[in-house]
Amino acid sequence: MGGLILVTGGAGFIGSHLVDALLTAGHDVRVLDDFSTGKKENLRGAEALAAAHGGHFQLIAGDVRSEVKMRDAVDGCAAVCHLAAVASVTQSLADPVGTGSVTHGGTVNAVRMAIDADVPRFVLASSCAVYGDAARLPVAEASAPHPLSPYAEAKLAAEETCAAAADAGQLTAVCLRFFNVYGPRQDPGSEYSGVISRFMAAASAGAPVTVYGDGRQTRDFVYVGDVVEALVRALQRPHSGVATLNVGSGTPTSMLDVLGRLEELAGGPIERRFEEARSGDIRESRADARRAEWVLGWVAGETLAGGLKKTWAWYQERSHD
Ligand SMILES: NC(=O)c1ccc[n+]([C@@H]2O[C@H](COP(=O)([O-])OP(=O)(O)OC[C@H]3O[C@@H](n4cnc5c(N)ncnc54)[C@H](O)[C@@H]3O)[C@@H](O)[C@H]2O)c1
Repeated sequence: MGGLILVTGGAGFIGSHLVDALLTAGHDVRVLDDFSTGKKENLRGAEALAAAHGGHFQLIAGDVRSEVKMRDAVDGCAAVCHLAAVASVTQSLADPVGTGSVTHGGTVNAVRMAIDADVPRFVLASSCAVYGDAARLPVAEASAPHPLSPYAEAKLAAEETCAAAADAGQLTAVCLRFFNVYGPRQDPGSEYSGVISRFMAAASAGAPVTVYGDGRQTRDFVYVGDVVEALVRALQRPHSGVATLNVGSGTPTSMLDVLGRLEELAGGPIERRFEEARSGDIRESRADARRAEWVLGWVAGETLAGGLKKTWAWYQERSHD
């Protein structure tokens, strides 16, 4: 890989870690973000990283649905990494039209502009939500999709947009189906937030944590550093057409297990408040990530204990800022 990489949603949780990794590897990076959930502070080290590693960093404030902004953003790029989306199942249930417009419509715009600008590689952040409540676990890419929310529907439609362009030979695409990503910078700010970030923020503040359902539902948690590694490999690996790949650890973990580990890190009990399970939430989730290993040589390298420790350290630092 070489040249300029566009990261849409680069001010967000995953996107900002990707920007740091690309700049550290000496690439030029351009971000397109409207800061709807992303933050400028996530990119505060970007200029310095670019200077230290001989690259350039550019930030474009704008909406991925804007043709003008997207045309400017893809200009001269060697690859697009498209992460911008309404990244929440709950939010999508509240605003299905807006979610479809940003998450699918924004992808249509990004793919179209990438084709017009002759950008050869397009990487999409998709989601395990496309599987719904899978009948067989671990779930592999060959399982029939069964979206249970407007978020999942929009991600599946975005994948199909990438696949259609790749099938027509207009670019090569990699759709990465992330499982439950966690790590530093994940915003704990709302009920929509990732569960580990909510638990961490509450535990850091000595506040009770809210558990939806009985807490025995499982998720496949994957550390953000591993997800960034999968994205970087997806940008680099030569292949033709489209590849759709699970990005998960392959290990199921219950909410109660996460809480137990967090109590160890916090050095004491954490009060739990149980509330009714949320609509659109699935019961169990676990990735079969063998295809990502085969295509990208990628496996999740971080243990849950190691990833939680790093994440906890970040929340501790942040609570003392
Ligand atoms: N975090 C996870 O567990 C997870 C799991 C599966 C898939 N994903 C996907 O990964 C991607 C990144 O997620 P994240 O967790 O970093 O979320 P995030 O909310 O932190 O990042 C999304 C970014 O996109 C930007 N954005 C949103 N709408 C935009 C628009 N219309 N125009 C321009 N920018 C816009 C936001 O400001 C933000 O910076 C998303 O596509 C999400 O659906 C995340």
